Amino acid sequence: MKYILPLLLTAILFGCKTKETPQKEIQRGLITQKAMVVSARAEASKIGSAIMEQGGNAFDAMVATEMALAVTYPFAGNLGGGGFMVYRTSKGEVGALDYREKAPNASDKDMYLDEDGNVIPKLSTEGAMAVGVPGTISGIFAAHEKFGSMSIEKLLQPVVDLANNGYVVTEKQAKRFEKYSDVFTRVNQDSTMLYSTAFAKAETIKNPALAKTLERIITNGKSEFYGGETGQKMVEYIQSKGGIMTVEDLKAYEAQWREPVIFNYDNLKIISMSPPSSGGVCLAQIMQMIEPYDISQLGHNSEKTIQVITEAERRAYADRSFYLGDPDFVDIPIDTLISETYGKNRMDTFSWEKATPSSEIDHSAIPGYESMETTHYSIVDPFGNAIAVTTTLNGAYGSKLYVDELGFFLNNEMDDFSSKPGVPNMFGLLGAKANAIAPGKRMLSSMTPTLVEKDGKFWMTVGTPGGSTIITSVLQTILNVHEFEMGMQEAVNAPRFHHQWLPDVVMFEPNSFEPTVLENLSKKGYTPNEEVSPVIGKVDGILILPDGSLEGGADRRGDDTAIGF
Ligand code: GLY
Repeated sequence: MKYILPLLLTAILFGCKTKETPQKEIQRGLITQKAMVVSARAEASKIGSAIMEQGGNAFDAMVATEMALAVTYPFAGNLGGGGFMVYRTSKGEVGALDYREKAPNASDKDMYLDEDGNVIPKLSTEGAMAVGVPGTISGIFAAHEKFGSMSIEKLLQPVVDLANNGYVVTEKQAKRFEKYSDVFTRVNQDSTMLYSTAFAKAETIKNPALAKTLERIITNGKSEFYGGETGQKMVEYIQSKGGIMTVEDLKAYEAQWREPVIFNYDNLKIISMSPPSSGGVCLAQIMQMIEPYDISQLGHNSEKTIQVITEAERRAYADRSFYLGDPDFVDIPIDTLISETYGKNRMDTFSWEKATPSSEIDHSAIPGYESMETTHYSIVDPFGNAIAVTTTLNGAYGSKLYVDELGFFLNNEMDDFSSKPGVPNMFGLLGAKANAIAPGKRMLSSMTPTLVEKDGKFWMTVGTPGGSTIITSVLQTILNVHEFEMGMQEAVNAPRFHHQWLPDVVMFEPNSFEPTVLENLSKKGYTPNEEVSPVIGKVDGILILPDGSLEGGADRRGDDTAIGF
C-alpha cells in the first residue's frame, strides 16, 4: 500500500499509462446476510446459528457452540479445559474474557522435576498431574451473565439432545480416534471409557454421561461443576489417578474479564487477547515490526515477505519467552512491547542479505515441536455483535484422562507453564521466570482470538488452534485479506509458514511453497522445514463484505464449517 504515491509519480514523470491490473477473481466461502458461526464441527455451527435464528445474540450462541464442540469435537472442545473470548458489541464496546485454567493450590515450580532437577518425561502432558483447574464452565456462565438473553436451559437443551442422539464420525476424526485409542487405555487403565476403542468413519457416537452432566449444570448452575456432584466426581477421579487437584481448587476458580490488547496497523484497529495469553502482545509486536515494509508490493509468500515476517516473529517470540506470564502474578511491560518505537528498534539488526541467527537474539538450541491442538470459533449475530473464541484442552484430548461418569476429557494445560527454564514445552516454546508454576497461577497461552475494525467499523473475526503457530496463522490470515486482497475463505485456504525464534527453523506447509523461494531462503541462512507438520493452524473467520454481507472462512485443513442465515 505504501508505494502507491511513488508509483503514480513514476507514471506521470515517464508519461506512461499505468498498466491496468486485471480484476482478480476472489473465491468466496459461504455468504450470508445476517449471522454466522464458523467452527470445527458442522453440528456446533448449526446449533449456534439456530440459537441466533431464535432471537439469541452472539453470546448466547457462544454458550451453545462451546458446549456442542465438547460433545462433537472432544479433541479440543471441552468442559475440562479453558479458553479466551474477545468481543465487540454492536455499540463498538470491546472486551475480553479469560477462562484459562489455573495451577492447583498444591502445585510447585519444580513439580515436574526429578531429584536431579531433570524434567520427568510426560508428567506435564499425560495423566492426572498434567491437569490444570478447568475454566470453561465459569467462562460460559460469565459470558451469559453479562450478555446472554436466553435461559441456560434453552441454550443447552439442544446440546443435551445432541449428546443423547449422537453425532457421525468424520474420516479425519476416525483417524484421530484410532491414533490415540491405545494412549486413552494406558492413561485411564481400568476405566471403561467411551473413546478407548477406535471408531470407524460414519459411526455414530452417543455420550449419555455428558448429556447427564449438562442436565445437572442446567439445573444447578456453574456450582455443579465448581464443587457440586460433577466437580466432586471429577476431583475423585483425578486424585485416584495420582493428581493433586481438590474441590477447594474448583471452588476458588473464577473467569476474569480483561482489557484486550488494541493496536493499529494501517487503517485497521486490531483487538486481540491480552495476557495470560501471549497472542495479542505477540501479534501486535510482529505487526508493528512489519508495518514499515510494503508487504503488498513484496508479494504473497514471496522470499522477501517470508524474510521480513520471519525476522519479526523471531524477535517477538524471543520477547514472549522472557516477559510474558499471568498478569495477576507478573508485571508485563505491554505498552512498551507493543509500541511502534520498540518495534522499529527491534528490527535495527534486520538485513535483506542474510538471516539473523536466533542465537544472536538470545541463546540455546532446542528440539522440535509436537502437535497442534485447540479449537477456535467465530460468531457474528444479526444485532452486530461479534466474538472470537479459542478454547482448548491443550494437547489432543488434553491429558487423555477421561472421566467416564461425566463424559469428558481433562486438559494437560500445566505443560504450558515453563517446567524448567531453558527446557521447551510440547510446542517447543521456552519460558522463563515469568511463566514459572505457582499455586493459583494461569499458564501462558498463545491463543489469539482476534477482532479487526477497518476505518472504524467491524470488519473481521478470526482465530485458530495450533499452539505456538496460532499467532503467526492469525497474522497471515489478516495480511492475506488486507495486503493481498483475498476473500476470507481464500485467506484461510492459503498455505502458511511459521517461525518462533527457537528452534531456529522456518516451518512451511509441505508442497505449498515455490521450491526456488525455499532454496533462496536457505542460501541466506534460514532453515526451511516442510516436515514438522502437514498443516499449520485451522483458521475460522468471518469477514464483513463491502455490501454488509458476511463471508465465512472455514479451514479446509479440518472438518470446519460455516453456517448462518
Ligand atoms: N494450549 C495452547 C495455548 O494455550 O497456547
